[in-house]
Amino acid sequence: MSTTATTSAGPDAALRYAAEHADRFVDELCELLRIPSISTQDEHLDDCRAAAMRLATELERIGLERVELHETGGPPILYAEWLGAGPGAPTVLLYGHYDVQPPDPLDEWLSDPFDPQEREGNLYARGASDDKGQLYTHVKALESILATDGRLPLNVKLVIEGEEESGSVHLDGFLEEHAAELAADCGLISDTHMPGPDQPSLVASLRGMAYCEVTVSGPTHDLHSGLYGGTVRNPAEELGRLLATLKDADGRVLVEGFYDDVLELDPAERARLAEVPFDEAGFLASSGAKHLHGEAGYSTAERIGTRPTVEVNGIWGGYIDPGAKTVLPARAHAKVSMRLVPHQRPGSTAALLRRHLEHHAPEGIGVEVRELHGGHPCLVDVKHPAMQAASAALAAEFGRAPVFERAGGSIPVVASFAQVLGIAGTVLMGFGLPDDRLHSPNEKITLAQFHRGIAASIRFLHGYAAAPQSQESSSAS
Ligand code: BES
Ligand code: ZN
Repeated sequence: MSTTATTSAGPDAALRYAAEHADRFVDELCELLRIPSISTQDEHLDDCRAAAMRLATELERIGLERVELHETGGPPILYAEWLGAGPGAPTVLLYGHYDVQPPDPLDEWLSDPFDPQEREGNLYARGASDDKGQLYTHVKALESILATDGRLPLNVKLVIEGEEESGSVHLDGFLEEHAAELAADCGLISDTHMPGPDQPSLVASLRGMAYCEVTVSGPTHDLHSGLYGGTVRNPAEELGRLLATLKDADGRVLVEGFYDDVLELDPAERARLAEVPFDEAGFLASSGAKHLHGEAGYSTAERIGTRPTVEVNGIWGGYIDPGAKTVLPARAHAKVSMRLVPHQRPGSTAALLRRHLEHHAPEGIGVEVRELHGGHPCLVDVKHPAMQAASAALAAEFGRAPVFERAGGSIPVVASFAQVLGIAGTVLMGFGLPDDRLHSPNEKITLAQFHRGIAASIRFLHGYAAAPQSQESSSAS
């Protein structure tokens, strides 16, 4: 890629436009948030499609080209581009997701999860931060530049999927099929958070994921607990016992081979991470738990960003409706996810879990482990020229240079960008805040963050367009 200077006047006009249209931008976001695009639940497939179509209409309206919905068998993938800056200018591949997590437990929301409500400078709704609100910052940045300059300072390709919250199962196929058309100099994603409103960050690594459903079975049918209790093994109890074998009391995972591929932190990286501000008290408060607890020998920030875990997400089986029924259930189930770090792999880690559970199951108890989805962990190339442009954009907008963070959540597409498209530099520029309650009741986005996100995106697109490009970046894993 050759060096190109932007021909536009810089970000000022677009920044002014964004400020002037701030209220409309929020109204539009509310419209998007009203659509319950829950990708994990099949009955919401039409809602997912409706969210994709609303975004498609908006992308067309603001002047993007080749706006296409790609059918996948699940929620469609939305593609759009603007390549008018020509081959001499850099190309940014922007990613976001329009799907959301289920809103349950519903009775803990102070307002309807799909009827956005503004309270004290925050907008509350499922997806407000993760990821509709953050994705929309870039849509509005693009609008602001196109409306004021009539062009973008660089080329942009957008991939917006509707299955991120359910494991991005069709995304790799799409990326592979369209790899040549998706070629870009860097990725750009806002689907993470920053340490606080005055401290921006760039994410240097994300954890991966292996998600499994475990079914433990015993008798062929449910049994009267008075007639059979104490005479045969109870699958619900055996499931509890099996899950308890996964970790020791200090949070270390006991699945054999689990840590074999884990990239241990070297002392220099550990020291560097310790410099990144982490508000432990605020983190504890945001959890609502009484104490922090995790793998011995690691700080909370290290546990979140650099250590793999096993988590039980849900357990069910037998009688769980109101009142009492005396029964020994024939089956019991659990959803078990594992957060992975470089260089663990989802498929082989799920196989380790299966082997462990089968090995520990007592005689007469069947164990089935079904893989629901997986995503690779990733390390980002923090020396990529796009990171410097992102750093400068965040510093200009938030008044402080960003810190490089290791995030605990997963965004499977980042590893896929590296592996399938060869894009090692994906800018993970989150505008969420740690107390946004992602996946929880009362999710919100702070409106000031939404507006500053739009401004930071405008600054980034202009800054990266003007930055010297280099091929010297190293590759992410
Ligand atoms: N936005 C999150 C991921 C995230 C949040 C990363 C905060 C870093 C900081 C994303 O939408 C998400 O929740 N992803 C899922 C992916 C999984 C289903 C494979 C996750 O992490 O549980
Ligand atoms: Zn999420």
